[in-house]
Amino acid sequence: MKPKAKRDYLKVFDFSKDEFLYIIKRSKNLKKSKESSNYPLFGKNVGMIFEKPSTRTRVSFEVSVYQLGGHAIYLSPKELQLCRGETIGDTAKVLSRYLDAMVIRTFSHKTLEEFSAYADIPVINALTDLHHPCQAAADILTIFEKKGRLEGIKVAYIGDGNNVANSLIEACALTGLKIDVATPEGYEPLEESVKKARSCTEVNIFNNPFQAVQDADVIYTDVWLSMGEEGKIEKREKFKDFQVNSNLLKYAKADAIVMHCLPAHRGEEITDEVIDGPQSVVFDQAENRLHTSKAILEFLLTL
Ligand code: CP
Ligand code: NVA
Repeated sequence: MKPKAKRDYLKVFDFSKDEFLYIIKRSKNLKKSKESSNYPLFGKNVGMIFEKPSTRTRVSFEVSVYQLGGHAIYLSPKELQLCRGETIGDTAKVLSRYLDAMVIRTFSHKTLEEFSAYADIPVINALTDLHHPCQAAADILTIFEKKGRLEGIKVAYIGDGNNVANSLIEACALTGLKIDVATPEGYEPLEESVKKARSCTEVNIFNNPFQAVQDADVIYTDVWLSMGEEGKIEKREKFKDFQVNSNLLKYAKADAIVMHCLPAHRGEEITDEVIDGPQSVVFDQAENRLHTSKAILEFLLTL
């Protein structure tokens, strides 16, 4: 008998609209009822490789696996034979013999795709240079909880057209949210994500943050320099007019919520006043990483 094809979550568009909405609803239920008590991952082992630092993603996945009844194994990239030149393909093939899924944070999205191509088990993207799809699931759950609906919601993303922006755009497309993005010229999000998203929802790209926040229900930002870009001082300079501060908030709806995937560079892309202010939902958003991680794991491992 042919085994069922494995499913990955490398980018938001790996899920259909129905599947993504199921993940959001399931996360809400898992959060509310602690339904994980039937241990759907009992007897399953999940490997986790993080080539970049992580607080939320790593801890929420590790806790999720445990609470779902499985076992998470953190594999330090410095201790795997990968660091001595063993190929990604050989590593993926071998780990597929022991494990039931892999959660990977790496630099190049191509590396993740290569791992997935050789792996027989589900691979979950814990962040690459191009996508952060687990973050996007938590973002949509947070918007749904705070606004009580997804229909008619407009999101404004202000800042770098990076991994977080690309996944947010894809998630807005699957859930029918309108999204306006404002980035400095040359820092726009992935054309591929925008193009496909436009077949499902309205996506506008501006170079002016005040234009993007008009009538916004949600204002979202992320760091100007992502992990690995710390030395790019000239890039930071281009973003100085894209700060989410109390003046910018005046141009959005009065009840707009403010989101940030965290970690934040306070005083750069967002002021203390705004991130600690009454419109900020960043810590509920961070908590939702746990509930959505559980739904993603359960969906991919118990298909
Ligand atoms: N938002 C997010 O992915 O945070 P970490 O880098 O701490 O995992
Ligand atoms: N864009 C940021 C997100 C961190 C969660 C980065 O890649 O560093």
